[in-house]
Amino acid sequence: MKESDRFCKGVNVVIGGQWGDEAKGKVVDALAQDVDVVARWSGGNNAGHTVVNEKGKFALHLVPSGIFNPDVVNLVLTGTVVNSTSLPKEIEDLRQRGIEISSTNLRISKEAHLVMPWHIKRDNLSERARGKEKIGTTGQGIGPTYSDRSAREGFRVVDLLNPNFQDEFDREFRFQERLTRTMDNEPLASELKGKSMDEIEEFISQTSERKYYDRDSLWEELKKAREVLGPMIVNTLGLLEEYHKQGKRILGEGAQGVLLGLDVGTFPFVTSSDPTVYGFVRGTGIPYGDIRNIIGVFKAYSTRVGGGPMPTEQENDIGDYIRRRGNEVGTTTGRDRRIGWFDAPLARYAVKHGGINGVALTKIDVLDELEEIKIGVTYEVGNTLYMNLTEVSDDFMRSAKVNYETLPGWKEDTTKARNFGELPKNAQKFIYRIQELIGLPIGIMSVGPEREAIIYR
Ligand code: IMP
Repeated sequence: MKESDRFCKGVNVVIGGQWGDEAKGKVVDALAQDVDVVARWSGGNNAGHTVVNEKGKFALHLVPSGIFNPDVVNLVLTGTVVNSTSLPKEIEDLRQRGIEISSTNLRISKEAHLVMPWHIKRDNLSERARGKEKIGTTGQGIGPTYSDRSAREGFRVVDLLNPNFQDEFDREFRFQERLTRTMDNEPLASELKGKSMDEIEEFISQTSERKYYDRDSLWEELKKAREVLGPMIVNTLGLLEEYHKQGKRILGEGAQGVLLGLDVGTFPFVTSSDPTVYGFVRGTGIPYGDIRNIIGVFKAYSTRVGGGPMPTEQENDIGDYIRRRGNEVGTTTGRDRRIGWFDAPLARYAVKHGGINGVALTKIDVLDELEEIKIGVTYEVGNTLYMNLTEVSDDFMRSAKVNYETLPGWKEDTTKARNFGELPKNAQKFIYRIQELIGLPIGIMSVGPEREAIIYR
């Protein structure tokens, strides 16, 4: 029996315990060697899942990380958002690198919503208008696509197959041109500041003549999307019900992390979908009680991209060092990630609200050279000490002072360790301490980017 077997039997779910980028892709790729189905339920190509295996190094955005096992059926579920240009391109790029993808091993929910160029435009316009208070989105149109979905507007993947789609597309296109023009035409006062009257007039005339979207090339892309994605479009809820009845081994692949969750994250600095296990339940129809392991993936430290509170943030040499050593640069946006120490109160909050019942601790090797390592253990707000948070609001988080515990580093290479006993004693102590603070067993540990650099316990 393989050590990983207990995480693969029945239905298991992998979710991000922090602000995304916890190396979930690596954990899913490792477990996907022994499952039948991998199902992705939240977000869209805002995600970037890095996978390093015998086939090379890959950055996946919407294609599930089970794609490298030819025996796995990969599902992109209802509740996700599909960019009709980037998904066909992602599929094509993978095929060019020798990964076989067909309607047998990749299936897309007919109910997933389509991200259109106007969603991307609206995302970027609203970020621009927010100025310093921007959310720091990935700029992929995620928020506006989900907004349209909530307003019961926009296209779904199944619309690509509708014989009247061209008419509907043209109607929507005209509306979106007008909408974007209305949103964008008003030059910002800051852009006009200091300009002469002539320059201002020129600026205004330019913006009123601007064409925002190229109808013909967009239509061509949608036709291509229909060609590539068409055979993969299915009713994933029905399919999953069948798979579940047959007792297939199903692995849920989360995107983002609990703290970016629309409902329980650090609103408004969150994404627009539900990265918790409850999002999985909704997207699959599999009852919560049927899930065995809900593995929360946590990095041995914290990272965050975009705005919002981050109480253990280290804007100093140690933060710079960890960023460099951990290669902490956004897979999707190329932005530097913000770095902080492991935040135990937030981890406990994520466990509670993400529905997590077991832990994978990743990127332990990034800390190999450190003299000492800190863990944020309590928050102090006014005269109250918190280990258990009941909220993560902006005000609360910004007023929190973090109390740290300092542990000695191990100053040894952990990347070759393949079982817990091979880890240096101080690394073991660090892991035990995090386990104690989170209150759940750490059953998976990652000590390097490659599939083999993993320890089960
Ligand atoms: P959006 O999802 O593009 O709207 O971005 C909202 C927030 O979520 C921003 O802070 C993004 O940086 C963050 N975000 C979205 N997706 C991911 C992800 O996959 N990893 C890390 N951060 C993400």
